[in-house]
Parts: sequence; structure tokens; C-alpha cells
Amino acid sequence: MRCLILYASLGGNTERVALRIQDVLRAEGLDVESIKVGHETQINLYQYDLIFLGSPVRLWLPVKTVMDFVRRTIIHYQKTGDLIPCSPVRPGKYAICFCTYAGPHTGISEAVPAVKWMRTFFEHLGFVVLDEWYTVGEFTGSEENSTRGRLGDIKGRPNEDDLLEIENKTKGILEVLKLFRSHSLRSR
Ligand SMILES: Cc1cc2nc3c(=O)[nH]c(=O)nc-3n(C[C@H](O)[C@H](O)[C@H](O)COP(=O)(O)O)c2cc1C
Repeated sequence: MRCLILYASLGGNTERVALRIQDVLRAEGLDVESIKVGHETQINLYQYDLIFLGSPVRLWLPVKTVMDFVRRTIIHYQKTGDLIPCSPVRPGKYAICFCTYAGPHTGISEAVPAVKWMRTFFEHLGFVVLDEWYTVGEFTGSEENSTRGRLGDIKGRPNEDDLLEIENKTKGILEVLKLFRSHSLRSR
């Protein structure tokens, strides 16, 4: 199984989550690539079986580099004919969408649109989205938003507990995929 961790991170929070996912996948002996999304990033996503796409939340959406990457990729797959109406599910193609967010105004509800946006991208490509992960991340550069928002004092987040949760969820996803695989082998 080929895995890709694709992420953006402006202050390092989302990168810490991405690196913890990477550690778990590598410890399981999986083939993993980690790519930080840039302005030029172009990737054939269909060469991977499991993709993690992560972004910090900015104004309820993913950051611009992620959104631009998604738009470029959609246009590319429209041209190649891979993106077609009804978006049929591609067997064996899975994704997880994750974010880090500070939620200073309304809590997790301001992170939900960002992750749903990324999820819809994968669903258009026919990937099955197995989960959405929301991790609290200190609002870099804003003491007020890191201490007096809806989530209270979030300084130092993601902390080791947050990263442990990511570690456990990543292990859980690998278990799910093992079950899918053994079930599909049995039903052949
Ligand atoms: C300019 C700016 C805008 C932000 N907008 C939001 C937002 O709308 N909702 C939210 O929950 N967090 C928001 N945040 C907080 C970041 O999403 C959060 O700190 C995240 O963990 C940063 O990740 P990074 O360190 O990987 O860049 C914002 C942060 C900045 C600096």
C-alpha cells in the first residue's frame, strides 16, 4: 500500500500532526511519502492507496496553497477524463482529511467547512474518505486568540496528548484497512 501525507503548515502545528502520522505509517513498514504543498505542487494522486490531506484553518477554509492545489488537480483530472459525473468510487483508494484549528470564535464549527471542503475534493476523485480529524492548534502570533477564545487556553497545542490521539487514530485506520482487505479477499 502506497501512502501519501500531503499538508500545508504556516506555523508548524499541522506539520507536527503530519509528522506523527508519518511516524506511525513508517513504524508499520509502509511506503510513505510526505509532501508539503507548495505553489507548484502537482501530484498524480491515483498512484497512492491512502492519502492524508491536512491544512491549517484560515477563515473557515484550508489555506490558499491547499485550495490552489485542489483547483489545479481538479482541472487536470477533468482534462484527463478521470473526473466524471457521479464520481464512481475507485476500489482501494482511501483518504483522511485533517486540520489544525484554534476555533477562537465558534470552536470546532469554524474548522468543519475546511475539512468538508477537502473531503469533497477526494469524493469527486472517487476516493473513500475514511475519517476527518480535527486537532486544536495554538493561534500563532495571537495571545488573545490562544487564551481567550471558545476553546480557552490552547497555548502549546497540539501537545503530546493531541499527538498521541493522532497516533492512535492512525493505527485505527490501518486496522480498518486490514479488515477491508481481508474481507475483500474472503469474498472473492
Ligand atoms: C491569519 C490566521 C487566520 C486564522 N483563522 C482561523 C479560523 O478561521 N478558524 C480557526 O479555527 N483557526 C484559525 N486560525 C488558527 C490556525 O488555524 C491554527 O493556529 C493552526 O493550528 C495553524 O496551523 P499551522 O501552524 O500549521 O499553520 C488562524 C490563524 C491565523 C494566523
